[in-house]
Amino acid sequence: MSQKKDPKDTYVLVTGGAGFIGSHTVVELLQSGYHVVIVDDLSNSSERVIDRIGQIVGEEAASRLAFRKLDVNDKAALEKVFEEFPIDRVIHFAGYKAVGESVQKPIEYYSNNLGNTLTLVDVMRNHNCKSIVFSSSATVYGDPDSLPLTEESPKKPATNPYGWTKWMIEQILSDLTVADDEWNVVLLRYFNPIGAHPSGLIGEDPKGIPNNLVPYVAQVAVGKRDAVHVYGDDYDTPDGTGVRDYIHVMDLASGHVAALAWMNGRTGVEIFNLGTGKGSSVLDIIKAFSAACGRDLPYVIEPRRAGDVTANYADCSKAKRELGWEARYDINDMCRDSWNWQSHNPNGYED
Ligand code: UD1
Repeated sequence: MSQKKDPKDTYVLVTGGAGFIGSHTVVELLQSGYHVVIVDDLSNSSERVIDRIGQIVGEEAASRLAFRKLDVNDKAALEKVFEEFPIDRVIHFAGYKAVGESVQKPIEYYSNNLGNTLTLVDVMRNHNCKSIVFSSSATVYGDPDSLPLTEESPKKPATNPYGWTKWMIEQILSDLTVADDEWNVVLLRYFNPIGAHPSGLIGEDPKGIPNNLVPYVAQVAVGKRDAVHVYGDDYDTPDGTGVRDYIHVMDLASGHVAALAWMNGRTGVEIFNLGTGKGSSVLDIIKAFSAACGRDLPYVIEPRRAGDVTANYADCSKAKRELGWEARYDINDMCRDSWNWQSHNPNGYED
């Protein structure tokens, strides 16, 4: 069971805490008074994130943050962290996340994402820590039959190994709560996270050519790429381009803090959508980003991308009702903050 505790007495282990969503969540946790231990192997992130988090939250809050560089698959190293700190709750972000790459490297994706989750929950159980929030994705809904998507909407077969790992980890963690009624699992299904901390000190730092829309648009805005490739303008949507529920990463971060507070003393498994409830098209995003950076960003229409759905957006009434959480930012805020981050850090965390 997740023990009832005040944030100031609660130690939260954040796997993948140096990554995009992880780092923003750590800021919110520290500002809410929690003790935070980040474990991250830095395979897709930078140690500089830790200093930047410290700059944002200030000295007192930063004194409640610890970082241990390790791979969550390394059971002995993870055991040590649980011996060193009295971990109460875990937020599990660590995992590979590139959809296209997952199709090329299914063994690596299944092995890493499923393997590290199994290692993590095994170590948690050994230390009687049975409270976990998992970073899931709206990808588990596949091509939806109807919109908006509620938590009761059916899970559909995934279209790639990355999506299957989210799907399967949801199942694995749910099974834990059946076997042992002390476990408390929260599955957070994110829609499309974009934006950055308003300070411009932390943000998304994709390696190589970005797969996702907004990081790509941001690189066009900063002059690193020529034009946005719009994957399809013949969808059954108002302007023919794909529609998604973009959510500010700071809203996502506060959703995690709300989920942790809600878990206090509960057991069992619960699912929450985290989105805004509003769909925006690819062209809406290009327009909002153009306004944010002050020039019309060039784009070219390309064929549809394999595996893309026409539209999805969330019904977030459950999170509002249960967690008292709702998104505060719109796509103009998201694009403004993505641009602020990108323009101040054109090479991400590199020099
Ligand atoms: C993708 C993944 C999803 C994952 C999420 C993580 C697929 C099929 N889905 O979601 O599993 O959880 O990222 O953030 O890859 N687009 C362009 N040009 C681009 C890039 C994207 O037009 O250069 C369009 C896409 O066709 C789509 C929209 O922009 O309509 C959003 O795409 P993207 O940012 O890649 O997110 P998803 O595909 O929704």
